[in-house]
Amino acid sequence: MTYLTVYTDGDAPETLLETEDAAEIAAALKEIDVVLRHWQVVEGLAPGAGQDEILDAYRTEVDRVIAEEGYTFVDVAQLHPDGSPDWPERAAAARQKFLNEHTHDDDEVRYFVSGSGIFYLHVDGRIHAVLCEPGDLLSVPENTTHWFDMGTEPSFTAIRFFHDDDGWVGDFTGDSIAQRVPDFDTIVANRKSRAS
Ligand SMILES: [Fe+2]
Repeated sequence: MTYLTVYTDGDAPETLLETEDAAEIAAALKEIDVVLRHWQVVEGLAPGAGQDEILDAYRTEVDRVIAEEGYTFVDVAQLHPDGSPDWPERAAAARQKFLNEHTHDDDEVRYFVSGSGIFYLHVDGRIHAVLCEPGDLLSVPENTTHWFDMGTEPSFTAIRFFHDDDGWVGDFTGDSIAQRVPDFDTIVANRKSRAS
């Protein structure tokens, strides 16, 4: 289930909204032209399933999005703890890659097959932090200022949609806002304490 937190974007960001209500989340995201859809999660996919197996499992939905939005390239990004000695280093490097505020020339469209991650969308003086979980398909329009946090222990499998093969290259803004807003680990902990 998706979890949305909205913050102000000043020196000391304040929380404006925290919600798990699907309708409330969809409405808040619509205001900033971001679309969140939900697909039925396919059960029975093995944890080690490869790209082709995953794409085949979601073929109908994937083909529909490609046809509707004109994407030309689809792949699967996966990162899960594997117990290898270099995991902490690889996890930290992967997390750092898109942890600072940036834009892309292409839409950023991700479907979460498993695991989770937070997209932070910085639009009109507010930050929408969207915690995506299995079944969530988030479409962030091109040139939207944003960043992505997979947390200190990344674990996710996501289908990605592209219009071209270099549109995903980040154009970094140099703004330190990502360091001032609560990170993935903090938001996940906040949500747990709210639920208990
Ligand atoms: Fe991005």
